[in-house]
Amino acid sequence: MTQHKELNLALVGYGYWGPKLARNINAIDGLNLYAIVDRSEDLLIKAKKQYSDAIAINDLELALNDDSVDALVLATPVDTHYPFAKKALLAGKHVLVEKPLCSSYQEAVELFDLARQVGKKLMVDHTYLYTDSVRKMKELVENGEVGNITYVDSTRINLGLFQHDVNVLWDLAPHDISITSYLIGKMPVMVQAFGAAHAKSNIENIAYLNIKFENELIAHFNCSWVSPVKIRHFMVGGDKKMILFNDLEATEKIRIYDTGYEVMNKDEQARLQVDYRVGDVHIPKIPSSEALFNMLEDFREFVVNDREPISSEAIAKDVVGILEMAEKSIKNNGEPVFAKNFVNI
Ligand SMILES: NC(=O)c1ccc[n+]([C@@H]2O[C@H](COP(=O)([O-])OP(=O)(O)OC[C@H]3O[C@@H](n4cnc5c(N)ncnc54)[C@H](O)[C@@H]3O)[C@@H](O)[C@H]2O)c1
Repeated sequence: MTQHKELNLALVGYGYWGPKLARNINAIDGLNLYAIVDRSEDLLIKAKKQYSDAIAINDLELALNDDSVDALVLATPVDTHYPFAKKALLAGKHVLVEKPLCSSYQEAVELFDLARQVGKKLMVDHTYLYTDSVRKMKELVENGEVGNITYVDSTRINLGLFQHDVNVLWDLAPHDISITSYLIGKMPVMVQAFGAAHAKSNIENIAYLNIKFENELIAHFNCSWVSPVKIRHFMVGGDKKMILFNDLEATEKIRIYDTGYEVMNKDEQARLQVDYRVGDVHIPKIPSSEALFNMLEDFREFVVNDREPISSEAIAKDVVGILEMAEKSIKNNGEPVFAKNFVNI
């Protein structure tokens, strides 16, 4: 007996990330890899070899005009996301878009408003939100173990592929911003960034992003495609405990430090007395499920059962809004950009 498939998906873009999505779509009950769209004939031949039941087509319009297609999954370059997502929603399809959703906050607002108008679902693949490590960090924040978060600090550097359409922050920082937005749940007050383009283009290949939230909570993200070493460290500092998420560790990805400090004397005239606490380090056992599989299941539940996804509208908008502010700051030599002048918060 053939399994009932609830949703027919057309995957658009079969470059680097598309095949990973295809493999996971194929593994999920309730999702059917109905079509693969790419303008490269070579990639279509490769796709067809792997997924002989799927239709392989080189024109997005064919998928848009096909009534059997329920949803589009967009894994094309960032500058195509907005026009493709808009077309897909207007054609009555649900849309799952790769990170980042689009190139500006206004476009993000427009797309989510359009999705509501046409009664279709729009979700962004912020893959990290579906990793067991980030789930664990969220649990530690929510159950109060970390205490009040005072800082987030991330290093995401390696000898990376220079992108032709977006700078290193648009490429790498969506991960850090989406995790931060998920853990903290609010927009920042101010964004500041520095970056440099070393490849005879105006696309920055190295950048430092600083974000200030309310109540002295700050975040710093170091993103680079030109580092000799690969580092994926995401640190969350709380006033009770601190967490290090090292994504390059095979199994011990999360370390919880029972480390903290207490300021004993707050009298500004007197010398500050700080009492440090350096306690145990705990390495929790966490499962290792595949994030893309979890993300696609969340999308299916969103479409089929109207369940709010972990990768929410608010997070998708935060990511694009902060990236746009960061880009503006970079182009103005690190001048701070205030969120209240920029996004609807
Ligand atoms: N979630 C993650 O962790 C993650 C990781 C890598 C990439 N991504 C995202 O995935 C997206 C794609 O990145 P990539 O690295 O796979 O890029 P890529 O350049 O390797 O692949 C893009 C594919 O889109 C196809 N394409 C471009 N324009 C098209 C059009 N008009 N019609 C049909 N096909 C078209 C290209 O032929 C190419 O095969 C980006 O948004 C990127 O940010 C996400």
